[in-house]
Amino acid sequence: MTTTQTVVLDEVRAAYGDGERRLVALDGVSVAFERGTFTAVMGPSGSGKSTLLHCAAGLERPAEGSVAVDGVVLDDLSEDDLTRLRRDRIGFVFQAFNLVSALTAEQNVSLPMRLAGRRPRAADVVAALAAVGLTDRLRHRPSELSGGEQQRVAIARALISRPAVVFADEPTGALDSVTSRHVLDLLRALVDEHRQTVVMVTHDPVAAARADRVVFLADGRIADDIRQAQTAEDIAARTTHLEKSGVGNTVHSGATTRPDEPEAPASVSQREETGVRRSAHHDSVRRSDHTYEREETSPDRAANRQDADHLEESW
Ligand SMILES: Nc1ncnc2c1ncn2[C@@H]1O[C@H](COP(=O)(O)OP(=O)(O)O)[C@@H](O)[C@H]1O
Ligand SMILES: [Mg+2]
Repeated sequence: MTTTQTVVLDEVRAAYGDGERRLVALDGVSVAFERGTFTAVMGPSGSGKSTLLHCAAGLERPAEGSVAVDGVVLDDLSEDDLTRLRRDRIGFVFQAFNLVSALTAEQNVSLPMRLAGRRPRAADVVAALAAVGLTDRLRHRPSELSGGEQQRVAIARALISRPAVVFADEPTGALDSVTSRHVLDLLRALVDEHRQTVVMVTHDPVAAARADRVVFLADGRIADDIRQAQTAEDIAARTTHLEKSGVGNTVHSGATTRPDEPEAPASVSQREETGVRRSAHHDSVRRSDHTYEREETSPDRAANRQDADHLEESW
């Protein structure tokens, strides 16, 4: 691993459940995120985006493969060491903000450090909230803040210790377009002004267009990886193309391979490398009733529950 790579995933597999209920969420994903870059992760619901983020952030341990963050291999770390690493080097922003409702903005921002037994300097807390434009909301509780303001508090909380990498799981999913743009500006500034690394899951091509790179997941695998700047229209077209070609459609009946239609040049070699066609085993797993059930409910719900469980120990 070179020092320019803040996050490295090597052949990461992640599965939920056992036996017939076993569901492969990540099916051998290898990807690295370089320091000072902003990557958007896209893909259909259930394609493994949140699982990828959780594995990369040490919130979940993959069944197989290796994860390294900021030069530290996570695989064999004890729970305590993993918690410490998350606290010191990783920030996480969730769609649901995950603020503590009884605490003020200031207290929410201080929380991760307090949980770690450290007392953040008041000036640092104010500076983090000022950076997200909330100087006049220090004493407000989440119920007294708009959605956009709550997300900015969540970002300030992820910034307080200047982590090497900030993972954001649909951070603009619950925000209007103006507020979304503000949140994206903040994430962009982490990269451009502080050389931090940002990895953001999003469904929104407009949000993804603010990134330096777009990684597409489908059925727990990398289906495409585009590095040159893209317009929102290009990204939307690529998303539609991947969905239409059957990749990532986890509940469809039949088709074990996508139709062999011609590909845009950028993605041909990528597809061959990563092998978008699913194995027979993977396919049967994907088409189980269990998968269907889960797809009918929100696949993010379980993940969010888990986020909440991890909140206290990781922050
Ligand atoms: N805690 C869990 N228990 C069981 N299955 C899960 C859990 N979390 C996610 N899954 C399943 O794993 C697959 C990938 O989920 P996820 O990573 O949340 O996808 P995405 O974020 O792309 O919507 C989905 O089929 C989902 O239903
Ligand atoms: Mg998700």
